[in-house]
Amino acid sequence: MMSKTWLVTGTHTGFGKQLALQLAQRDDVNLVATSRKAGQLDYLNQYDHGQIAKVILDVTKHDEVINAVKTANDKFGGIDVLVNNAGLGYFGTFEESNLDDAKYMFDVNVWGLVDMTRQTLPIMRKQRSGVIVNFSSIGGLYSFPTLAFYHGTKYAVEGITGSIEEEVKGLGIKTMLVEPSGFRTDWAGRSSHKTMPTHDDYQQFAKFIQDNANGAHHEPGDPAKAAAIIIDQVMNHEDQLPEHLPLGKISSDLAIDKYTKLLQQFKDLRKISLSADSPEKQ
Ligand SMILES: NC(=O)c1ccc[n+]([C@@H]2O[C@H](COP(=O)([O-])OP(=O)(O)OC[C@H]3O[C@@H](n4cnc5c(N)ncnc54)[C@H](OP(=O)(O)O)[C@@H]3O)[C@@H](O)[C@H]2O)c1
Repeated sequence: MMSKTWLVTGTHTGFGKQLALQLAQRDDVNLVATSRKAGQLDYLNQYDHGQIAKVILDVTKHDEVINAVKTANDKFGGIDVLVNNAGLGYFGTFEESNLDDAKYMFDVNVWGLVDMTRQTLPIMRKQRSGVIVNFSSIGGLYSFPTLAFYHGTKYAVEGITGSIEEEVKGLGIKTMLVEPSGFRTDWAGRSSHKTMPTHDDYQQFAKFIQDNANGAHHEPGDPAKAAAIIIDQVMNHEDQLPEHLPLGKISSDLAIDKYTKLLQQFKDLRKISLSADSPEKQ
């Protein structure tokens, strides 16, 4: 049986860890698991019989990105699936957010994903095959207060992935955007800095931020189930791989609600929309 090589970023905790744990136990997968610090992937040791590579990777460090991709390619002779999972959050009102935090989040969630993908695509193009799984969020489709910059990163991931899909679908390469709602990972807790509103006009949002922090690890979503679904889609349904994969009831409800309302709005505005073209083009 031909093994598929998976390279997954951010496998220390959360979705990444669940993906790594399940991939490590399959006999048809080579796994390149990554963490920012050494010793964080020891949970994989018991499953390692030569099919696992553990690599130090901070996706904001270009030399480490190059090294992770090169290690996967050298050790396993290619990369079949890249999972851009590494990411973090940030809560704060748009006006009071710390822009250094917001920019760092873009470095990880957007530019890290971009760097990983640009290093991997030449390998996949040469193979004429591959799957790129990009972690977006329901926050890449639907906006909440206090998450303006997180949404900015995830809407960016959606847009960038859409263009990649258009450019590489003729080359045997597919993309899948994963769009979870709340899952029991470290995201809402230690992985999201929070700036509490100080302005009277924004006090109502302090509770939203606090509730999210308190709710960490009590969300409805089970990351082990999410990992199993992602692996099943890629390994068993690559021919019909969904370009968007909302995960969790809240994600599915909000995605359907948003697009149903948007569709109606676009239809209602159709006459006005068309009237903006030059007369000879109408
Ligand atoms: N959990 C949710 O409710 C939810 C919902 C929608 C989308 N997501 C997305 O799911 C993805 C995974 O997050 P998670 O929920 O599993 O949270 P998590 O448990 O906090 O895991 C995030 C992982 O990303 C790693 N990471 C952070 N910065 C990194 C960097 N610069 N380079 C490499 N790795 C880095 C973390 O490493 P360290 O352990 O070293 O910090 C950690 O292992 C993220 O893209 C997140 O936005 C999560």
